Amino acid sequence: MKNILIIGSTGQIGSELTMKLRSIYGGDHVVAGYIPGAEPKGELLESGPSALVDITNEQQIAEAVSRYKIDTIYNLAALLSAVAEKKPQLAWKIGMGGLFNVLEVAREMGCAVFTPSSIGVFGNNTPKDKTPQDTIRNPRTMYGVTKVSGELLSDYYFIRFGVDTRSVRFPGLISYVTPPGGGTTDYAVDIYYSAAKGEKFICPIASGTFMDMMYMPDALRAAIEIMEADSSKFIHRNSFNIASMSFDPEIIYHNIKKYVPDFQMEYQVDPLRQAIAESWPNSLDDTCAREEWGWKPEYDLDTMTKDMLQKLGEKFGK
Ligand code: SER
Repeated sequence: MKNILIIGSTGQIGSELTMKLRSIYGGDHVVAGYIPGAEPKGELLESGPSALVDITNEQQIAEAVSRYKIDTIYNLAALLSAVAEKKPQLAWKIGMGGLFNVLEVAREMGCAVFTPSSIGVFGNNTPKDKTPQDTIRNPRTMYGVTKVSGELLSDYYFIRFGVDTRSVRFPGLISYVTPPGGGTTDYAVDIYYSAAKGEKFICPIASGTFMDMMYMPDALRAAIEIMEADSSKFIHRNSFNIASMSFDPEIIYHNIKKYVPDFQMEYQVDPLRQAIAESWPNSLDDTCAREEWGWKPEYDLDTMTKDMLQKLGEKFGK
């Protein structure tokens, strides 16, 4: 990767990935693509170039690629699962229409493309524990439908046109930097904010509901390492299961309580997010990612909790 365009640079993953890539490849080589209303600010704005790139506008993508001699596109524009259920047409327009635009520009201008996939590609008939790499993908959410279709379209562009498309299936991502918006796994971020602020946490996901989760530093590393990997060992491309930890609300609550003994949690289950969570795996088998490009997580629940509470404590001055 020499010159990189991030589409969705101010979002949950983009805001951190852009800074991480700039620290490795140099600020001038990483372009922060944004849409009106979500302009980069502060360090993100000052540390390198930014460009108006609405993923639904193929011309804007092509102009940024040509102007900055882009060879790699990180396509991070998406609506998360619970929002996508409320706005399915928009979710399709961004997730699929947008991906199609990116792939067409990549085909014409010779770019590699990273598009995150998700545990959301799996559905009720998928094996729930140690979910295999190659298994039933039958989501019943619009988020999952766009992610499965995105995997298929990305593989198609590789097979048919030789576009270097690569992807990982992210679990719920946890970070103290940019809050997610409208995901099913977001409770595992919100719970740390409540604990750090000394507030009681109202949990929208029922006790006993296990989902795969990952600390953002591991997720950023995965997104970079897969694009840097020697593809001669790839059997898969779009998309690889990756995993680092799996827990339910009780487990994360008790882990936080080790460090914040007064912390309280109460359940008020949200039926929409609960139904989505129940349709997703409990834990993924990431053997293929480990074997084909050397994936290995660094954080577990306890090391993540310590870091999250420390960083959020600094943020809230506690
Ligand atoms: N974090 C996402 C969501 O909950 C899953 O990939 O929508």
